[in-house]
Amino acid sequence: MTSKAPYVVRTEALTRTFRQGDLTVEAVKPLDLCIGHGELVAIQGVSGSGKSTLLHLLALLDSPTSGHYYLDGTDTAGMDDDTRSAARNTLVGMVFQSFYLIPYASALDNVMLPGLYGDASGKFLRERAEALLERVGLADRMHFKPSSLSGGQQQRVALARALLNDPPLLLADEPTGQLDTATGKDILDLFESINAAGKTIIIVTHDPETATRAARRIEFADGRIVSDTTS
Ligand SMILES: Nc1ncnc2c1ncn2[C@@H]1O[C@H](COP(=O)(O)OP(=O)(O)O)[C@@H](O)[C@H]1O
Ligand SMILES: [Mg+2]
Repeated sequence: MTSKAPYVVRTEALTRTFRQGDLTVEAVKPLDLCIGHGELVAIQGVSGSGKSTLLHLLALLDSPTSGHYYLDGTDTAGMDDDTRSAARNTLVGMVFQSFYLIPYASALDNVMLPGLYGDASGKFLRERAEALLERVGLADRMHFKPSSLSGGQQQRVALARALLNDPPLLLADEPTGQLDTATGKDILDLFESINAAGKTIIIVTHDPETATRAARRIEFADGRIVSDTTS
């Protein structure tokens, strides 16, 4: 997907506060963040620093307490529910630590899933899903169910699924968190090659080692950015 917006992600004083009884947690403090097309960004911080909360806001899985979020140039605050769902489905791909594949569906059906809400034909979706599974190295596993796949293979399926609608933004929350070091490295290599082909990617991680894989590293602590460096 091509876009005329200068940034894929732009936030203005974006916040998210949770209230539980008398307790208030400012999980994301007023945040100004711009991420341009084709960037590979790691957001690194200790557990509880607000990384997942931020990623959920960027994925339109959650709404901010205040501030603005422009996704691919569009102010997401003005979106009604249908527009928001459509934007979540077409503008954002998301990969999670625990894969979240549908257990009784084949790898191929899992990858095709985000296409079922759109207008594309079954044939088109199937061919695209097959091409993506090939792209992530699973050409020979397309008809396997998640339980017959290793963790690394399941994450590859999840990655292919996130790319089905060719979203301008790919988000990953601790994508190697459940994988051994070697498998995690393979997955990060895959993210890197997908970024090299032009995809804008944000990877959230608690692991400084993982963060060094990204050209731009944002350190997050206590709900705010403490450093933002590009190498
Ligand atoms: N749904 C929620 N309700 C209440 N508090 C939450 C909720 N989600 C996250 N928090 C709190 O927000 C803070 C940041 O959490 P989180 O974004 O999950 O951090 P991280 O992903 O960096 O580990 C934590 O103090 C957490 O307890
Ligand atoms: Mg988290």
